[in-house]
Amino acid sequence: MSLYATQDEKKQAAAKAALKHLPKGGILGVGTGSTVNFLIDLLPELQLEAAVASSEATAQRLKKLGIEVVDMNSVGGLDAYVDGADEIDRHMHMIKGGGAALTREKIVASIAKKFVCIVDDSKWVEQLSREFPLPVEVIPMARSAVARKIVALGGDPAYREGVVTDNGNVILDVYNLNILNALELEKTLNDIPGVVTNGIFALNKADIAIVATNNGIEERTAV
Ligand code: 5RP
Repeated sequence: MSLYATQDEKKQAAAKAALKHLPKGGILGVGTGSTVNFLIDLLPELQLEAAVASSEATAQRLKKLGIEVVDMNSVGGLDAYVDGADEIDRHMHMIKGGGAALTREKIVASIAKKFVCIVDDSKWVEQLSREFPLPVEVIPMARSAVARKIVALGGDPAYREGVVTDNGNVILDVYNLNILNALELEKTLNDIPGVVTNGIFALNKADIAIVATNNGIEERTAV
C-alpha cells in the first residue's frame, strides 16, 4: 500500500515538502523537469523577488505565473537551487540531463548556497547509472570524436536523435558505465574536448534530498 496513487502524486508531494527548505522572497534558482513543474506551480507562496531559470521551458512556466525571470549575469549568488534528478544516491550524487537541461542546471546550481533535490523514490539508487544512461552535452562537430573517447573509457554512447539543447548542442546518452567514483568520472568526461558538461552532479552535489516514498516524505542527507 502507498500513500500515493501515482508517481505524479509522489512528485507533487516532494515538491510541496521542499517549500520549507526554500527561502521566502529573494531570488531562487529553478531546475527543469516534471517534478520541478509541480514546484513551480507552488512558488507564488514564496513571494519571490525573482528566479533564475535553468531552461527556456522553466523560464516560460515561471513567467506564466507572473514570476520575474532574471539573467544569471545580474545575480551575485543564490541562497538556494531546487531541481529534480534522474537518479540520486546516498552520497547525494546525481545523474541529471534526462530533459537535456544539464548544462544550465549545473551552472545555476554552482552559484547557489544550497541544492535541494526533489524526487520520488524511483530515482533513489545504490549505484549511479546502472539503469539510467548518463547524458553528456556535446558540441555538434565533436560528436563522433567524443563518442570514440567515451567508448575507450568503457561506455556505450547513443546519439539522442532530434534533440538540440538550449545551447544549440547535442546529447550523447552513455550506457554501461560502471560508476564507482562519480567525482573522478565527472572530471574525466568534462576534460574531453567537445564535451560541454556531463550529467554527473557530484562535484556540486545535493545538500538535501526530499524523497517521496510509499510511506510519505523522507528528508535525506549525505552519508
Ligand atoms: C533535466 C533534468 C531533470 O531534473 C531530470 O530529468 C528529472 O526530471 P523529472 O522530474 O521529469 O523526472 O535533469 O535535464
